[in-house]
Amino acid sequence: MDTMSFVLFGATGDLATRKIYPALYNLFIEMKMPESFSVIGLGRKEISNDIFQGLVEKSLNTFSRNSPDNADTMKAFLSAFRYSQLDVNRKEDYQKLLQLVVQREKELKLSENRMFYLSVSPEFFDVIALNINESGLGTTEGWKRLIIEKPFGRDLKSAQELNENLSKAFHEEEIFRIDHFLGKAMVQNLEVLESSNPYLQDLWSNHYIANVQITANETVGVEERAGYYDHAGALRDMFQNHMLQLLMMIATQLPKRGDASTDNLKKKAIMESLRPLQQEDVIHNVVRGQYVAGKSKGDSVVAYTDEPGVAVHTHTETFVAARLWIDDLFWNEVPFYIRTGKRMKEKSTRIVIEFKEPLTKQSIEEDGKMANLLVIEIGPKEGMFIQLNKKNNKGELEPVRIDCYSNEKDAPEAYEKLIHDAMNGDSTFFAHWDEVEMSWKWVQPILNAFNDNLIPLQMYEAGSYGPTGSDELLAFEGFKWLLDS
Ligand code: BG6
Repeated sequence: MDTMSFVLFGATGDLATRKIYPALYNLFIEMKMPESFSVIGLGRKEISNDIFQGLVEKSLNTFSRNSPDNADTMKAFLSAFRYSQLDVNRKEDYQKLLQLVVQREKELKLSENRMFYLSVSPEFFDVIALNINESGLGTTEGWKRLIIEKPFGRDLKSAQELNENLSKAFHEEEIFRIDHFLGKAMVQNLEVLESSNPYLQDLWSNHYIANVQITANETVGVEERAGYYDHAGALRDMFQNHMLQLLMMIATQLPKRGDASTDNLKKKAIMESLRPLQQEDVIHNVVRGQYVAGKSKGDSVVAYTDEPGVAVHTHTETFVAARLWIDDLFWNEVPFYIRTGKRMKEKSTRIVIEFKEPLTKQSIEEDGKMANLLVIEIGPKEGMFIQLNKKNNKGELEPVRIDCYSNEKDAPEAYEKLIHDAMNGDSTFFAHWDEVEMSWKWVQPILNAFNDNLIPLQMYEAGSYGPTGSDELLAFEGFKWLLDS
């Protein structure tokens, strides 16, 4: 891997502490970092290099999956870290940064490869990209890359504006947009699931599949993030990005589909075939909900509107469910159901594929026979199972599950894989601009309908599986959410 400078904006923030330093450290001890590298942390606070290295060490002691108990390794790792104070709007600070980057490149004999990671609030993305460009930091003899995290805009227009501004400083191939769901092991596994299992390839179409259910339920509420969440809601926070990425990933994987040659093009093809929702369709295809007081894992919890920092009469949704159709040869007439919510009964991110009786074209659930399922458990459990029917000793039909779960507690985390890919210039598991733009286009009528209050806000008890409208959405086609206990 190329030697490089890793320039981290937001170096004293939460994401850096919890995810980025542990990811770098784990890559380091697994020999996946370049032979030589420099990390330059940036933040508003004035702190010394020693204090900064102390913060990084503390983060590793608290959050690293590989315990940092070897003093020499720790010392070698920390020696790469320097800190520089930076106000994102001050041009002089970027000049100071440039000097430090160049100085470290010389000291460590690094090639001029520069990775800029913006672990800061999205409102600063444009100004930082602009200043990287104007200061000369982006003028290198090697490569330059930008890593940013969702949210990429608040709606279609703001996302387009942001992209336009970023593209003044970075080409699309240089921008790595992290959607951490794409770094999850089972999501990355979807790629090989069908391509390496010929028997699935034949089943992977509307001849055999009755419906696909994509769920990302969480037990937590809004936590300490009301300031952000109350202006975002589940649609922007989860649906437009993570959920639609999961949809693209599960729907694209058939090899030989169309003539799309790369994963990006295949995902784009799915978004192009996704049936657009007109504003008047939203009410029949989308459910929005908000939690009221209830129990979470046995403890009483307050309603969303009583959470600290949430506006009293807010209409912000903490739950969204939707029915989607992909109008192409493979998926025509197969409903995709997506739901995501906070304060749900259990934490579970999974994709369930329900197979149908090919002759009757119906769901096969009758006379004790359960539907055949392929279930991909993305988190917190990681694995998959197939559900089949068999006869028990009494001669009755009963479902059996053939499963395989990963027990690798030490498996690399999403951030490790994604940062490593970005360092290698591999953007397969990142969100590309055309996908992001098409997702916003698809979601925009829903955002408008929510803003204009055209869709009722259905209340659901904390600790439940969401509002009744969510079940009705599937009942309309004769289905139900599977695997809810
Ligand atoms: C984040 C959302 O992107 O994903 C959070 O902003 C959410 O609201 C989180 O809790 C869920 O991620 P995971 O990996 O815990 O399923």
